[in-house]
Amino acid sequence: MHLRKATFGDVEAIHKLVNDYAQQGVMLPRSRNSIYETLRDVIIAEEDDRLVGVGSLHLSWDALAEVRALAIAPGFQRRGIGRQIVEELLIEGRALGVKTFFTLTYQPEFFGTLGFSEVTKEELPQKVWKECINCPKFPNCDEVAMVKREG
Ligand SMILES: CC(C)(COP(=O)(O)OP(=O)(O)OC[C@H]1O[C@@H](n2cnc3c(N)ncnc32)[C@H](O)[C@@H]1OP(=O)(O)O)[C@@H](O)C(=O)NCCC(=O)NCCS
Repeated sequence: MHLRKATFGDVEAIHKLVNDYAQQGVMLPRSRNSIYETLRDVIIAEEDDRLVGVGSLHLSWDALAEVRALAIAPGFQRRGIGRQIVEELLIEGRALGVKTFFTLTYQPEFFGTLGFSEVTKEELPQKVWKECINCPKFPNCDEVAMVKREG
């Protein structure tokens, strides 16, 4: 397994992986349009030329970034791939000067092992909510907000 930045050739596999989970209700759906527009945010995990994991870091505001759209393929979970993707996203973010990472998740235990702590949604800057209006769950968000602060 190795990690690399996503390219256009990965979009269909990312779209399928994320939206298969979205159909099960365990993550939010993503359109091809949003995947293309944020492709530079994305790191993928690949094994034998197959996409087995994906995750993104999206810059939101000054020194603030969101870890999102994290998905590990069925059969490849609990092998440390999700952890490695998030750690790589944190390295990228720190290099850009990110001081606060946040995520909105249904998997708080997983993010807890990576040093994220639960906060109330009101503690996140209002800017973060800009995209919520496009979410199928808006305004009844049932995700858990978590942050990891640097230094
Ligand atoms: C949640 C998910 C991203 C975790 O990735 P993963 O590669 O399976 O997790 P890892 O093997 O890297 O686990 C890292 C740590 O988190 C723990 N962990 C992983 N999934 C967990 C879960 N569902 N509940 C509790 N702990 C979990 C592991 O025990 C491990 O801890 P350790 O290092 O102390 O042993 C993955 O299971 C997944 O894609 N699930 C389906 C889609 C989804 O729910 N995405 C969430 C987006 S918010």
